[in-house]
Amino acid sequence: MSVHSANSSATAAATGRSRAVKAVIPAAGLATRFLPATKAVPKELLPVVDRPVLQYIVEEATQAGINDVLLITGRGKTSMVDHFDRRPDLEARLENKPEILAAVQRPSELADIYTVRQPEQLGLGHAVGYAESHVGDQPFAVLLGDEFVKLDQPLLPAMLELQARTGGVVLAFFEVDPADTKRYGIASVEPAEAELTDIGEVVKVTGMVEKPKPEEAPSNLAVLGRYVLPATIFDAIRRTKPGSGGEIQLTDAMELLRNEGTPVHAIVYRGTRYDTGMPLGYLQTVVQIAAEREDFGAEFRKWLADFVNSDASGGPNT
Ligand code: G1P
Repeated sequence: MSVHSANSSATAAATGRSRAVKAVIPAAGLATRFLPATKAVPKELLPVVDRPVLQYIVEEATQAGINDVLLITGRGKTSMVDHFDRRPDLEARLENKPEILAAVQRPSELADIYTVRQPEQLGLGHAVGYAESHVGDQPFAVLLGDEFVKLDQPLLPAMLELQARTGGVVLAFFEVDPADTKRYGIASVEPAEAELTDIGEVVKVTGMVEKPKPEEAPSNLAVLGRYVLPATIFDAIRRTKPGSGGEIQLTDAMELLRNEGTPVHAIVYRGTRYDTGMPLGYLQTVVQIAAEREDFGAEFRKWLADFVNSDASGGPNT
């Protein structure tokens, strides 16, 4: 696996805007919110039932028709790339177990995976900047490596369609408790006329700020970890000074573009978002996905109900 640049496409110029065809997954972070579990294991490889978080994210990109995925990695995180490689030695031992064999092969069949390393973790914007030579001059999607949405409530296809219509930046928002604004990028918005999607209202963004205190937040609409960005973001990132947490923030680079006239639209997503970046959200994700499993979901739900209803000091299985 390597990084190439693949600037496309003559037809896009002839027919107007085309849908983004590449995805970038920033996954170089140190995952300090999940230590010590993430000291030697990338948080993107923590399992949600029997698949690592990162596989759900790559599947989300694939489901949206994107099969070119650039992983932005860092030191100690090479095992993420191994997950999407073939394992002929393991596969040879699974010839009599077709279901497990298919599950082992699936990650390597999902997408073309490319990698680039971010040598120092200086912020999300800084990380996305490393995608420039791979992405070229076309719009592209960014999927953050620790959150994903429910597979049957897809968000990315609608964002890609919207970006092909409006150009500029397309974001997705979800509503947060006003006390939690300091954990997210927060936006002010106005209605967007004549823009519709079947998964949520479309709004026009009139301002964005990274991790504001509740009293300074312009709303409770938080930036969800899915973006469709124009290639002009790379120049904006270069011009962005360190912001919240002393890091080069993607939110600040997008706000710079917006101030210079780039349209920024967003879909207010009403579906289910799973946030695996912190222990509580991770546990909630595992429980929800386990409860929906066809094979043991019913049994797990029954156990969970019994557990919740049991004496807190013990449990049905103690
Ligand atoms: C990042 C972004 C933030 C966004 C959030 C979504 O923050 O900087 O704007 O709202 O992801 O999860 P991080 O979680 O990396 O602190």
